[in-house]
Amino acid sequence: MLEYQAAKDLLKNKTILVTGAGDGIGKAAAIAYAKHGATVILLGKTVKKLEAVYDLIEQAGYPTPAIVPLDLKGATEQNYKDMAETIEEQFGKLDGLLHNASLLGVLGPFEHITMSTVNDVLQVNLIAEIMLTKAMLPIMRKSESASLLFTSSSVGRQGRAYWGEYAISKFATEGMMQSLAHEYEDTVIRVNSINPGATRTGMRANAYPAENPQTLKAPEDIMATYLYLMGDDSKDVNGQQLNAQ
Ligand SMILES: NC(=O)c1ccc[n+]([C@@H]2O[C@H](COP(=O)([O-])OP(=O)(O)OC[C@H]3O[C@@H](n4cnc5c(N)ncnc54)[C@H](OP(=O)(O)O)[C@@H]3O)[C@@H](O)[C@H]2O)c1
Repeated sequence: MLEYQAAKDLLKNKTILVTGAGDGIGKAAAIAYAKHGATVILLGKTVKKLEAVYDLIEQAGYPTPAIVPLDLKGATEQNYKDMAETIEEQFGKLDGLLHNASLLGVLGPFEHITMSTVNDVLQVNLIAEIMLTKAMLPIMRKSESASLLFTSSSVGRQGRAYWGEYAISKFATEGMMQSLAHEYEDTVIRVNSINPGATRTGMRANAYPAENPQTLKAPEDIMATYLYLMGDDSKDVNGQQLNAQ
């Protein structure tokens, strides 16, 4: 997959929503999608970070993006319905949705898990994904070819000691991906998951504080698979668990 070379206009005329677009991998994906012609909807919690990504995209001369400030922890089903309505009014359809925003939670022994952290992690990494997906599916059906892409992790495919609620949330995400891929297999919507692999971001630094970040790939270095799965070259790929590295 690392060999994949996306055509310059791979995502021309596509509208793509990226969650957690203000930082880390989501920021790199939003910029990569815009660079390849997409109008990107930047969803995230910290408005300043979203504005910085907006400015980068505008200054580069890519299609003007949109900003949706939203805290996935507190958002309600109505918030997602309203967002879908606004996107439909402005763009008529949605061609791509990258579920990227996540919380790491607290790594440690299972017996030390606190329910407030469990609730936060499951709310952001899972419940928000369910609500956002449910709201966006009707406008994704209006696309000629839409990609619904979930972000997993190696601990979403093989459990590991001390990764508690984060691993649980990623396993559930993989399960949602598989169920949706089966349910939508004869439609214009394909559904897959991507594991970015160890990547130089704030989340990775929190999980591995003793690691030298310079030994890791930067988010910009792992975009080939993100582009492949969002563009029509992956039109026939459905229900797959891909790795970006
Ligand atoms: N980095 C890795 O090595 C690695 C490995 C495997 C999987 N992943 C997965 O890859 C994805 C991206 O991770 P990353 O490393 O880029 O993480 P990151 O640097 O921590 O970025 C996470 C993004 O999610 C947003 N976010 C967090 N909580 C939110 C909330 N309540 N509402 C809205 N947005 C929220 C953050 O926004 P703010 O900055 O505004 O808080 C930020 O933009 C995640 O799904 C992660 O699980 C990463």
